[in-house]
Amino acid sequence: MDIPIRQSFRIDGESIELIVKIGGRVVGGLVAVWTGKNEMELRHLAVAADSQKKRLGQSLVIRLQEIAVLRGCRRIHTIARNTSVAFFRNLGFTTVPGVSPTHPIFQRHGITFTLMAKEL
Ligand SMILES: CC(C)(COP(=O)(O)OP(=O)(O)OC[C@H]1O[C@@H](n2cnc3c(N)ncnc32)[C@H](O)[C@@H]1OP(=O)(O)O)[C@@H](O)C(=O)NCCC(=O)NCCS
Repeated sequence: MDIPIRQSFRIDGESIELIVKIGGRVVGGLVAVWTGKNEMELRHLAVAADSQKKRLGQSLVIRLQEIAVLRGCRRIHTIARNTSVAFFRNLGFTTVPGVSPTHPIFQRHGITFTLMAKEL
C-alpha cells in the first residue's frame, strides 16, 4: 500500500505549515502545531541539502513567528537535534529544562535531542 509521505507525518490538531519554493521546486518546509492556548511546538523543519546555508531555514522560522504571534502564540518550543542547536540559538531559542527524548535510529547516527524554546 502506498502511504503518501505527508500522511506519514500527519499531526492531529491545528497546525501552521509553511513551504519555500525555488523555481517551482519545494526546497524547504516546516510544521508547527498548537500545544496550548498560547504555545506551539515546531515539530518538523527541513531544507533540502543543496539549498542549505542560504537563510531559507531562518526565513521559515521567522515567518512562523510572525504568523504565530498574530494568532496569539506567546512561546514556541522545539526538540532540536544536536546538529541544529546552534541554528536555533542564532534565532533566539534557548535550552530549557526537561527530559529530551531519545531514538535508537538517531542515536546510531550520533544524533541526540535538546529541548529549546523562545518567548515571542
Ligand atoms: C537546520 C536547517 C533547517 C537549517 O537550514 P538552513 O537554511 O541551512 O539554515 P540558514 O541558512 O537559514 O541558517 C541561518 C543561520 O544559522 C546558521 N546555521 C545553520 N545551520 C547550522 C548548523 N547546523 N550549525 C550551526 N549553525 C548553523 C547559519 O550559518 C546561519 O548563520 P548566520 O546568520 O550567522 O549566517 C537545515 O540544516 C536542515 O534541514 N537540517 C536537517 C534537518 C534538521 O536538522 N532539522 C531541524 C530539526 S530539529
